[in-house]
Amino acid sequence: MKPCIQAIAFDAYGTLFDVHSVITLCSRKFPGEGAELSKLWRAKQLEYTWLRSLMGQYEDFWAVTESALIFACHSLSLACPTEIRRELMSSYLHLDTFPEVNSALGKLSQYKLGILSNGSPKMLAAVVANTGLKGVFTDVISAEEVKIYKSSPRVYGLASQHMGVPDDAIAFVSSNFWDIAGAKCFGLWTCWVNRGNLPEDDLGVRPDVTVDTLDGLVTVLGATPLP
Ligand code: 2OP
Repeated sequence: MKPCIQAIAFDAYGTLFDVHSVITLCSRKFPGEGAELSKLWRAKQLEYTWLRSLMGQYEDFWAVTESALIFACHSLSLACPTEIRRELMSSYLHLDTFPEVNSALGKLSQYKLGILSNGSPKMLAAVVANTGLKGVFTDVISAEEVKIYKSSPRVYGLASQHMGVPDDAIAFVSSNFWDIAGAKCFGLWTCWVNRGNLPEDDLGVRPDVTVDTLDGLVTVLGATPLP
């Protein structure tokens, strides 16, 4: 049953912002390798967040993202001098939003809207500003505050602390199943935006609802009366 939601916390990368919009620049720098580089870059970025959390060796998300890029280039035997690396890293501050994001957020404006992300505060502020979403979110919350990454429960606990509503009145929305699993284990109501039509991971928890895009979330929550 849908609880009485007052606030919605969104994952950033992959949910609001398309991490694979870097493919265009990757392809320009490394013709024929753009899609593969982007895929490996993202996979390593996530893997490094989990490993660093397990090892108790936090480094901010910018550093983790850069290390992942270096590894990905190395692994594909692509020479990536500092200048190209800087350009590719800076594309992370100018990611595209998925096509429905702006209109869906507008339709959900009766809720308190926030971002809860592994991104560093600077990265998040930049991508929010560059996509014209400044002012849409009451809170842009970074895992940096607790120096561990999702899916640690310490990160999900930040949502109620910042948004000022109890955990059971928060909807957590992510396109990353591992993130949904973490939030669900913590106790948040969860909506998986299954953009890639992927199977669920076998982690012993399931999302409360699954939708294809944020338009599906609007359908599920949009009719909720104002508190
Ligand atoms: C996030 O935005 C990395 O997608 C993940 O927290």
